[in-house]
Amino acid sequence: MAIAEQELLAASRRAYDLVFKSMVETACLKAARDLNLFGLLAAGPLPLDVLATRVEGVPLRLERLLVSLGQIGLVLRTEQGWALTELARHFFVVPANDPSLTMAPFADYMVDQLESYYLRLADVVRGNLDFTGVVPYPPRSRADSLFYETIHRSNVYFPIKLMRKHAHLEGVKHLVDAGGGIGDVAAALCKQFPDLHVSLINLPSAVDLVRENVAAQGLSERIIPVVIDLYRDEYPACDAVLFSRIMYPMSAQLCTMLCQRAFAALEPGGRILICDMIIDDSQHPNYDYLSHYLCAVGTDFSVLDFKPQSAYSGILQAVGFSQISHAAGYDHVLFQAVKPA
Ligand SMILES: C[S@@+](CC[C@H](N)C(=O)[O-])C[C@H]1O[C@@H](n2cnc3c(N)ncnc32)[C@H](O)[C@@H]1O
Repeated sequence: MAIAEQELLAASRRAYDLVFKSMVETACLKAARDLNLFGLLAAGPLPLDVLATRVEGVPLRLERLLVSLGQIGLVLRTEQGWALTELARHFFVVPANDPSLTMAPFADYMVDQLESYYLRLADVVRGNLDFTGVVPYPPRSRADSLFYETIHRSNVYFPIKLMRKHAHLEGVKHLVDAGGGIGDVAAALCKQFPDLHVSLINLPSAVDLVRENVAAQGLSERIIPVVIDLYRDEYPACDAVLFSRIMYPMSAQLCTMLCQRAFAALEPGGRILICDMIIDDSQHPNYDYLSHYLCAVGTDFSVLDFKPQSAYSGILQAVGFSQISHAAGYDHVLFQAVKPA
């Protein structure tokens, strides 16, 4: 096949995906979630008639939905009836068997907003509809924070893997984890670096959740949640500052401001670590981030931005850091640098 034709075929496949794939997958996933199929099949396979009774569905129609779900890899037909695939079992069953790697909270969140917001983006652009989150952001109550921290922790598995592999925290005694979530990242780092103690910065509504999570992991003595406003307040004096999945949506200007705060808190020789999901790979748009960015279409004020992540080198240098390095893996990137002694 001539090159031009190969390109045409690739473009045609992409166009097909845009029209059919996204719509079919979203529709099937929404139906599966609305019918609680993941919950009903979590304990094991069920025959069609039993499943149809449980979902109050018409067996023939349910079967066609299941066939479609089978085609996209979420269920399969077994001798005992319809069953979840490993993918569906791992990522969509609630409660998750691994809270650091599940799509269940995100799927709920997306499906809830689909009809009310995402499918009405033209109205949003025309100014006839604004984005209003189902739960206030920034979170105000414990329940608000629980909602968001459950979402944030649901895909922290791979960033933790990258940090455990590449973070230079040997000899670091006091790490400030700025916007540290529920404490899963801090806990994983403490388990790897026995000398590490962490001040975990978060909002007032989240600190009890952090306390409970680190207590459950036996780390109450080493991870202390502190109520500090990431954007306004000074950070505690320390020998390392981590921004894990905080800066990726921010403009270079806002990142510079946060790096300056870290610089001021660090003792000479102290380290800064910035871990982000990759959002600037032109071959692989980051749909997770794009789903949030689309929310910004419907708000008058937003800090969400698309900056090249290579900008961190210049930002860190301009703030005064040296020994700038970066590592990438698992769809994430980790920048590190040192405050000169
Ligand atoms: C995207 S999450 C990242 C969580 C964690 N670092 C991780 O990688 O999983 C952002 C975190 O920053 C916290 N946060 C948001 N605004 C904040 C503020 N103004 N001051 C302190 N923490 C804030 C949120 O409550 C949440 O825990």
